[in-house]
Amino acid sequence: MNKLDIDKLLKKMTLEEKASFCSGETFWHLQSLERLNVPNIMVTDGPHGVRKQGGDGDHIGIEVSNPATCFPTAVGLASTWNEDLVYKVGEHLALECHSDDVSVLLGPGANIKRHPLCGRNFEYFSEDPILSGNMAASFINGVQSKGVGTSLKHFVANNQESNRMIVDTVVDDRTLHELYLKSFEIPVKKAQPWTVMCSYNKINGIYASEHKYLLTDVLKNNWGHKGLVVTDWGACNDRVEGLIAGQEIEMPTSRGMNDANIVDAVRAGRLDEAILDSSVKRVLELIFKSQQVSKEDFNEEEHHQFARKVATETMVLLKNDCILPLKESQQIALIGEFAKTPRYQGSGSSLVNPTKLTTAFEAFEERQVSIAYAKGYDISTEKTDQLLIDEAVKVAKENEVVILMIGLTESFESEGFDRTHLRIPQNHVDLLEAIYNVNQNIVVTLSNGSPVEMPWIDKTKAVLEQYLAGQASGLALTDVLFGDVNPSGKLAETFPNHLEEFPANQNFPGERRQVLYTEGLYVGYRYYDSADVAPLFPFGYGLSYTTFAYTNLYVSKKKVTFEVKNTGAVAGAEIAQLYISKEDSAIYRPLQELKGYKKVFLNPGETISVELPIVEEDLKVYKDGEFVLEDGTYTVKVGASSKDILLEGEVVLEGEIFSQDETYKNITNEFAPSLEEFKTLYKKELPALVPMKPFTFTSTVDEMSQVWLGKILKNRVLKEMTKMFGDGEVPESMMLMMNAMLNEMPFRSMVRMNEGIPENVALGMIDVMNGHFLKGLGKILKK
Ligand code: BGC
Repeated sequence: MNKLDIDKLLKKMTLEEKASFCSGETFWHLQSLERLNVPNIMVTDGPHGVRKQGGDGDHIGIEVSNPATCFPTAVGLASTWNEDLVYKVGEHLALECHSDDVSVLLGPGANIKRHPLCGRNFEYFSEDPILSGNMAASFINGVQSKGVGTSLKHFVANNQESNRMIVDTVVDDRTLHELYLKSFEIPVKKAQPWTVMCSYNKINGIYASEHKYLLTDVLKNNWGHKGLVVTDWGACNDRVEGLIAGQEIEMPTSRGMNDANIVDAVRAGRLDEAILDSSVKRVLELIFKSQQVSKEDFNEEEHHQFARKVATETMVLLKNDCILPLKESQQIALIGEFAKTPRYQGSGSSLVNPTKLTTAFEAFEERQVSIAYAKGYDISTEKTDQLLIDEAVKVAKENEVVILMIGLTESFESEGFDRTHLRIPQNHVDLLEAIYNVNQNIVVTLSNGSPVEMPWIDKTKAVLEQYLAGQASGLALTDVLFGDVNPSGKLAETFPNHLEEFPANQNFPGERRQVLYTEGLYVGYRYYDSADVAPLFPFGYGLSYTTFAYTNLYVSKKKVTFEVKNTGAVAGAEIAQLYISKEDSAIYRPLQELKGYKKVFLNPGETISVELPIVEEDLKVYKDGEFVLEDGTYTVKVGASSKDILLEGEVVLEGEIFSQDETYKNITNEFAPSLEEFKTLYKKELPALVPMKPFTFTSTVDEMSQVWLGKILKNRVLKEMTKMFGDGEVPESMMLMMNAMLNEMPFRSMVRMNEGIPENVALGMIDVMNGHFLKGLGKILKK
């Protein structure tokens, strides 16, 4: 259907029908209209596997979904720095959408990793916007090349799970544009995602779902986004304000409540019908575009093997004291329950029901390598079990090398809540220490979605970061351990030594309803490099079974070229990185910033010439409402990580002369900006902290439980939530997520998303809770 036909169709729709197209028909479907042959299309999570649920569905992973291939999560994909591979992951996901009749996959997530404790970091790519943005763009291009849409999420500044539905992210304009928005700008411009999902939180005092500046001025007008803005599930605040701001679809359904609000607003002249028309037009365009898909079949085993290949590239070798790769003739002890019950994906809306799962134990067996196994710890607890330790120590003593599989268990990280510390469970540490007393040849393999601290690292000979490597993680692990695949992953995030070390920790997760990003641009390596602090492992770091040498840098205004040579004995891939500095800048800047990278594969002794463009646009800073290039000399640095710069040159670029500004300049490891300093950076009045009372439609059920009616409401909601699980056992991570939702979900979202309380009754209840009994009763008894 072309644009003209869509215009004609729109003209045939009644006001009520158009209003109904501004939200979903069901939890996972957009609105359809039989009368005019508008089909019913399905959207579903994402991002690292298709999660198509039957029935009514839920967005936190309670109801089991159709089997689908579980690929490594975003943190691992980013560690490959391989855009072609990520594109192919997208293509594979799209084929699985074809077979499930899914038109839009809800991903990828492009939020910047501001803090390693964010519970959802496993689903995000990087702390750097160029890497994150390019990964997201490749993912989107891959999925969409097969006629399936994506949803770039969660737009924007949604960098923590704590209070995610109510918190106001207060961030200065420059940081917002150069860091948090940049990670979305790149994929929007390079890949045109069919949809962009706006987040739950507020940004500088305004809900993302009704932020006109961000949704219309920036996303639609400046970046040229042609698709839809869809809300995160339950993120719509005021529906009419949302439409005016440029938010086309509220998801999931509001069960007609907001349709009525839209109709009333048009009739009362509060909403221009032309705005409604242009929103519905975008919705119809997407629906009909999705009908042009030409479906392809896929083979489950082939996808499993592809997931294996991807996983081998995601792994990052953090330490290797000449112990890896292993030889099959060695006597190997495989220790840790993860070997049989792997941690291979995260929890929450991205939870995939895998088509197949190959554990490390099975992968060793498949290779016919004989191993001695011991459980070592129980994944359901952090408590040390001496019997399990004794058994593991015995096995470790009798073997030459120990592969010790440890990391974070499921209850540590998930959508819905943040981690509270950087440690791995105590029973994992106790196990490592006990084994060390009898066998020092320990290779630790880590399964986790975000950095952990490693005070125990000196007791290991090697550490391999597997992240959450998907359903073929066991096979990929043995491929790398035995050297069939030379590890080539590099960290897309900094691993801190401990939490107190970096400035974002000052305000994480902040107040219940407000978090101040006082650190500005000093996030991740931008801080560590500027303050000259050595992290545990720097951004861009990762070892290989071979070595590389960098030479012959040549810099021009448009590009840099240099050579990389494989100086070792085995073939391998290297990720060369380009950082750019402006040390004499008139304004504050991080010491250096990533501006390009290239992954190259080299046989032993082979040399390759690498060329990377210098893109002036990427060197601009956000100043007084626009991106501007500063005039003068820039230092061009090429290296193997942000802390391993191997070649340096200079380039002089013509731009604007900036006036001097000392704010946040020349920081040290004592950088801990005060509120006053932050205000200088922020430049405007800080948004007010919203008081808990009077209660409003955006108050949470937990906040309302301070008064009697709120208490009754909370108990009722708790009961309903428990019912959702039926008689089955509830995993701890899910319980934690449910609690977080209860504490943080605004009353308006609960009312709209669930059967039970009509909107007038809900609004009346709020009046009653605020002590206006008669007024409330009036609303409750209306119609
Ligand atoms: C998550 C989104 C997800 C949606 C639908 C929300 O809670 O934040 O990432 O796509 O649910 O499941």
